[in-house]
Amino acid sequence: MLEDIQTPRLNENSRCVLETERLTLRRPTLADVKTIARLANDRRIAENTRRLPHPYSPDHAVDFVRSMANKRCETVFLIESEFTPIGMVGIDWREADAPQLGYWLGVEYWGQGFATEAARAAIDYFFEEFDAEHLYSGARVANPASRNVLEKCGFQWIGVELHRFEALKSSTPVDCFRLSRGVWSSLKSWSSSIRKLG
Ligand SMILES: CC(C)(COP(=O)(O)OP(=O)(O)OC[C@H]1O[C@@H](n2cnc3c(N)ncnc32)[C@H](O)[C@@H]1OP(=O)(O)O)[C@@H](O)C(=O)NCCC(=O)NCCS
Repeated sequence: MLEDIQTPRLNENSRCVLETERLTLRRPTLADVKTIARLANDRRIAENTRRLPHPYSPDHAVDFVRSMANKRCETVFLIESEFTPIGMVGIDWREADAPQLGYWLGVEYWGQGFATEAARAAIDYFFEEFDAEHLYSGARVANPASRNVLEKCGFQWIGVELHRFEALKSSTPVDCFRLSRGVWSSLKSWSSSIRKLG
């Protein structure tokens, strides 16, 4: 998923396990390949992610985990709920000046707010660990769930592009989004106001 590109890192001693209210995000290992393959091997996931092959075999998962193990930057996380892997979230640095947030969840875990929770943790990690001003992402125009996740995380729509999707073996329109460091930092510091009766 990620190329071995030098990224502008702020903190070399960063943690590689992220905890949220319900989830743990950690580096995937070879012990996870069976579960990753079982979760990822679903056309409904492949048709909405640019590079996930379909069918997705355990060998695909082994290649993926091995490629992650050789990377210095851990920007791809396995998402776990109650010690069970449920999906993946990560930052793709293939275009060094336009890092891209991507994620998918096993279908049985959709509709419970997990993607938003995991994406928020990965976004915090990104802006806290890397010296970048913008994070990008995209959702097929026919993927309202993913668009909602991005909007709930503060991403702003910047246009539509055609992108090739491995599983579709063709290109399809994608809504493109961008989150700036300024918007992220404003959302993070937005505390509740106090209402007083006048
Ligand atoms: C996109 C995906 C990650 C969403 O996961 P999820 O955990 O269900 O997402 P969340 O529950 O955090 O948020 C989804 C939001 O979209 C809404 N939603 C779901 N399906 C929808 C639909 N068909 N139309 C409109 N809104 C929809 C949900 O109600 C929720 O919004 P809410 O919190 O305001 O109610 C999951 O569907 C998935 O893995 N899809 C396949 C891969 C993919 O699309 N990856 C993203 C590519 S970048």
